[in-house]
Amino acid sequence: MPTGLFGRSLIIIVAPMILLQTVVAFVFMERHWQSVTDRLSEAVVRDIAGLVDIIDTFPQEPELESIVRIARERFKLRVNFLPLEDLPPPKSKPFFSILDTALSDQLTRQIGKPFWVDTLGDSDLLEIRIKLERQVLRVFVLRSQAYASNTAIFLLWMVGAAFVLIAIAILFLRNQIRPIQRLAEAAERFGKGQSIPEDFRPRGATEVRRATHSFIEMRDRIERALEQRTAMLAGVSHDLRTVLTRFRLQLALVPQSNETEALTDDVTDMQSMLEGYLDFARGDTGEEASDINVEDVLARFSAEAEARGKKFSVVFSGDPYAHLKPTAFSRLVSNLVSNGLRHSQHVEVRCVRSKKRLSLEVHDNGPGIAPTDREEVFKPFVRLDQARNQDESGTGLGLAIARDIVNTHGGEIELGDSDLGGLLVKVTLPA
Ligand SMILES: Nc1ncnc2c1ncn2[C@@H]1O[C@H](COP(=O)(O)OP(=O)(O)OP(=O)(O)O)[C@@H](O)[C@H]1O
Ligand SMILES: [Mg+2]
Repeated sequence: MPTGLFGRSLIIIVAPMILLQTVVAFVFMERHWQSVTDRLSEAVVRDIAGLVDIIDTFPQEPELESIVRIARERFKLRVNFLPLEDLPPPKSKPFFSILDTALSDQLTRQIGKPFWVDTLGDSDLLEIRIKLERQVLRVFVLRSQAYASNTAIFLLWMVGAAFVLIAIAILFLRNQIRPIQRLAEAAERFGKGQSIPEDFRPRGATEVRRATHSFIEMRDRIERALEQRTAMLAGVSHDLRTVLTRFRLQLALVPQSNETEALTDDVTDMQSMLEGYLDFARGDTGEEASDINVEDVLARFSAEAEARGKKFSVVFSGDPYAHLKPTAFSRLVSNLVSNGLRHSQHVEVRCVRSKKRLSLEVHDNGPGIAPTDREEVFKPFVRLDQARNQDESGTGLGLAIARDIVNTHGGEIELGDSDLGGLLVKVTLPA
């Protein structure tokens, strides 16, 4: 069974048609063609039987000539005589041999003498030989005399009509299915955060138009909501940043002491947290994907690792270019790698670029994450083991943002155990 709508609808249309034609053709063959051929053969053999009777009655030379003439003029049979000898062995029957069967039947029934029939070949003539007492009678019969031959034309017409119908069905179906395909493509692109073609609008049958219409409305609503959120966030971030900057300036004016230093650190923390929240809440900013060099992006993190005195390596295979959102992708890698660097001594990124996807694995040799927590850590503001990383300022948004980014690319992210002993984060992106 084909999986596509086109294939399926085509079967729905074509299968009954072919079934109907087969039944019609079969009934026609069985009844009409067979009985017409039977009758025609019966008539021809009746003529031949008459000839045989007359030959038996007047077996002499002069009468025979008249018989041949009568056969030619009245019965349209070409008759001649062969010397008496054994008939050739029966010809192998054609697979589909109504005529052969009908003729042989009638010959046996009406004449009852040994005979030999040749219905094969493309010629217009059939040959029948009958062994008489003194000679062998050879008769050539016009094929059309014994056989309803226009049936081939009937079959041709039927097959031809079937092809025309199928062609029309294919044309119509293609036109009906194109809008559905376009809708599916648009939904897929929207899901991956890509732009939808300019000329995308409702087309095709009412139901498809309705679905397209609803899809466009849904997309507009989502886009409006995103815009509102971005606008509000821009406002909030602007206001809060202004306040924090003022705060920092005022702190700088106060005589320095341990307290002011602690306050300055807090303000710095607050600023970076604020950036984190905003990054997360801003989500997909509608960044356009472009061809970026993934290998370069990965290489950028070795400096950070070195500064922290940790080991960082990249294993890359395949074409380094991939179609991705540049800022979002480097934030994704940054979140995963900095998690690894924070929790372990050695981080390794293994990246395989295949034809259709980019597979990115971030391995580390840290403590890892227990299977039961692997879903939890993706939630915003979730941090495991507060005591363990109390000293570090984190907001628990890194993995949530990472998953958001992977989703807007239409990919997948999952956690596992690394062969280095720590956490494995496996990301697959269509690219
Ligand atoms: N490589 C890792 N090894 C062990 N635990 C990890 C690793 N990466 C993340 N975690 C755990 O998952 C939690 C959530 O990680 P996530 O990146 O979302 O937040 P965060 O790193 O705490 O803060 P942020 O990334 O916002 O600075 C972390 O608090 C940590 O406990
Ligand atoms: Mg993190």
